[in-house]
Amino acid sequence: NKRVKIKTILDQNPIGQEITLMGWVRTKRSNKNVSFIALNDGSIITNYQVVADPNLISEEILKKCSTGACVKITGTIVESQGAGQASELNAKSIEILGEADPEKYPLQPKKHSLEFLREIAHLRMRTNTFGAIFRVRHALAFAVHRYFNDKGFFYIHTPIITGSDAEGAGETFKVTTFDIGNPPKNTDGSVDFKQDFFERETNLTVSGQLEGELAAMALSEIYTFGPTFRAENSNTTRHLAEFWMIEPEMAFYDAEDNADLAEEFLKYLIQYALENCQEDLKFLESRLIEEESSKPTDQRSELNLLDKLKFVVDNEFVRITYTEAIDILRNSNPNKKKKFQYLIESWGADLQSEHERYLVEKHFKKPVILTDYPKEIKSFYMRQNEDGKTVAAMDILFPGIGEIIGGSQREERLDVLTARMDEMNIPKEEMWWFLDTRRFGSTPHAGFGLGFERMVQFVTGMGNIRDVIAFPRTPGNAEF
Ligand code: 4AD
Ligand code: MG
Repeated sequence: NKRVKIKTILDQNPIGQEITLMGWVRTKRSNKNVSFIALNDGSIITNYQVVADPNLISEEILKKCSTGACVKITGTIVESQGAGQASELNAKSIEILGEADPEKYPLQPKKHSLEFLREIAHLRMRTNTFGAIFRVRHALAFAVHRYFNDKGFFYIHTPIITGSDAEGAGETFKVTTFDIGNPPKNTDGSVDFKQDFFERETNLTVSGQLEGELAAMALSEIYTFGPTFRAENSNTTRHLAEFWMIEPEMAFYDAEDNADLAEEFLKYLIQYALENCQEDLKFLESRLIEEESSKPTDQRSELNLLDKLKFVVDNEFVRITYTEAIDILRNSNPNKKKKFQYLIESWGADLQSEHERYLVEKHFKKPVILTDYPKEIKSFYMRQNEDGKTVAAMDILFPGIGEIIGGSQREERLDVLTARMDEMNIPKEEMWWFLDTRRFGSTPHAGFGLGFERMVQFVTGMGNIRDVIAFPRTPGNAEF
């Protein structure tokens, strides 16, 4: 018998057929006359019920069907006696593929905390919660490609190892091939990185944008989707040292076209998940409802997960400028809380996460597209506005997440760009290849970056970014 997946059985309901299931035992209940095994094979969140008659299956085998064991079960699909599922499997034979000693197996058939599961990230995908998260993550990744492919965008693979620090923030991981204990030295004793990686100092990419711009200047509309690395030592529920980013880049787009695309794209991804991940999202919603019920009533969210997702799809995002946002914050000053007050004095300061939260969760109660930030707090490549003070930047803020997208219209004017690079001490010589796009056939263009894990967080409702990537890289966390 060929293996059939649980999802296929539930989709097709093949009553009367003899089939073979393979999967991991979640629970087993037994009495004198019969054993019930709940089996999961990862194809769907549902555990499939297997009924084992002790006259057919030996006591020894049944004993080994403990939580976590991997089994191969052949039998006949019959209509289910109990409520819940339409069918169940009457086992004819059970083969133990891999035992899991109940004394040692860390996952027990009970609720484990997310913190505990984070410590055993190598096993946590075997739980309902993490199975659901990683199926949703897959669906969203697939939807990213489908969206752009359908629009005629081309997927570009930008380098992981690079000589450029695209964001100019200096938060890069160095790539080294030399003996850490005995690196080549400069005459002053400092490490000579120039001798590394075939005589070029390199790092892991922080963004594929600059290479993406080169591609957009040839193929018009492109996107990247790959891992990016930031050596910022921030221990928050929104930051990873290694995260995945989607970066579309479009020739002939201005800032408004860019915002239109970003809004449509985000809604598409959410809608795709709503249509294709129903069981998993319902499960994740129910675990959130349980989690919320332990909070004081005034701290519970007003909408359940699925309604929250539908709300974002159905409503227009708010679009305001940084300056308008500052005015709102200035006039809000909720409960005269001190932390908002510094904004009153300083136009030009970067928004803190409390400010973003206030705008999105309290004031507008909707996703917000914030545009036209002061140039001092944004990257060198953003297009300068006529006012001389702001740039055509765009951040998209989501409820419960904060910044989910950062982007801009790019500075396409060679003279303006190089003047800004001089002001910001960005070495032009090293960026000759980037500046060539402005020297030869330059045109207005724009793009943005979506933090994929933050999107998965929003769709799954998970509070900690470490729980939406299989093996999170955070400070002090890289064992496997
Ligand atoms: O705002 P960022 O730094 O923008 C860029 O890298 C641009 N090159 C994008 C572009 O215009 N093509 O990062 C973009 C997004 C953020 O909005 C956030 O969602 C996510 O990437 N992000 C992170 N996600 C997880 N962990 C981190 N440390 C992140 N840093 C940024
Ligand atoms: Mg940003």
